[in-house]
Amino acid sequence: MKISRRTALSLTGAAGASLVAAPFVRPSYAQARAVRVGLLLPFSGTFAQPGEAIANGFMLYYNQNKAAFGGRDLQFVRLDDESLPPKAAENTNKLVLGEKVDVLVGTVHSGVALAMSKIAREAGLLTIIPNAGANDITGGLCAPNIFRSSFDNGQPGFATGVAMLKAGIKEAMTFSWRYAAGAESNSGFKSSFVKGGGKIIKEISIPFPDVQFQSSLTEIASIKPPAVYSFFAGGGAAKYINDWAGAKLNQSIQLWGPGFLTDGLEKAVGANGNGIKTALHYVDDIDTPTNKNFRAAYQAAYKQAADVFAVQGYDAAQMLATGLAAANGDVANRKRMFEAIKGATYTSPRGNFKLSVGNNPVQDFYLRELTGGVNVNRGLAAAAVGDSTQDCKAR
Ligand code: BEZ
Repeated sequence: MKISRRTALSLTGAAGASLVAAPFVRPSYAQARAVRVGLLLPFSGTFAQPGEAIANGFMLYYNQNKAAFGGRDLQFVRLDDESLPPKAAENTNKLVLGEKVDVLVGTVHSGVALAMSKIAREAGLLTIIPNAGANDITGGLCAPNIFRSSFDNGQPGFATGVAMLKAGIKEAMTFSWRYAAGAESNSGFKSSFVKGGGKIIKEISIPFPDVQFQSSLTEIASIKPPAVYSFFAGGGAAKYINDWAGAKLNQSIQLWGPGFLTDGLEKAVGANGNGIKTALHYVDDIDTPTNKNFRAAYQAAYKQAADVFAVQGYDAAQMLATGLAAANGDVANRKRMFEAIKGATYTSPRGNFKLSVGNNPVQDFYLRELTGGVNVNRGLAAAAVGDSTQDCKAR
């Protein structure tokens, strides 16, 4: 199967050295062909910005640590998944069967990731999810070859609910995109907010990737809740925040959500975003050398500020390096790679984290308030948040 030049771009980091056969000498993987990495990400549509940031973060880690990948060069095949679930199986097969990638890295959208993971589970190849939070992938459908460098959808929702209760909010509405990520984000939010005594006044939603917010904003204005919890991300979230301010809801109703609502969008929303509070496993000012060096290098390489998606891409590359190094570059030694990735402690710009039984990060969440174009750190919202479901049976 061929990928058109429009949608796929091969970038090679391979030295191109050919394998030299010698009797009784085990070939060095440094001399073998490059490891082929399929990057299945959205490079168009409402999630184009997160997709690019993930790819940038991945490349930054690779370019900084080329010697850390078990002596292997990497060769990349980029494929735009357009955040379209109906095309997800075909796109995944293009990479796995057509391009014969050794490793799959993708994606942003939960619906695309669910279809991708089904194929990845059967194929057994190393798969690293650098964003999509579908709970089941590291819950009931967990698999030894599938890892996440991001979060499950319930985690940021849970942390936001904790922070809202702490801020004294007793009642809230939800308004989110209607697909797996929105529904699971809302469930995570309710799992702490309602359990802690908060009341949900009303839940409304619009289909992904709609950005016609006006009639929902009119409904919210008529209900006048003290606070709204919203899951939107990427270009859609920027429009939502600007429409929210345009309808003057920012003057009377608190807007809260998981940090995707504002991360990477600070410039696009400007003063319209002032006062929006979110919880996320990343905040720009984490005071560690790892984060400071990461942010400086990202700014220098891409002439823009790093965001949570860039961090997740960076850590996806770090996971791949961990696996390949443990297997001495032998990508066929899946057992060794999976054990190493599962057992590692990752030194991330977000802080250190380990993986759960389902291969999902167990991590801290920060409360942030968007003020003057910066998501200001308001302290820890919830520490060491684990998986939203305990459905992954030990394997
Ligand atoms: C998701 O579809 O899982 C997702 C997309 C953007 C941000 C966060 C989650």
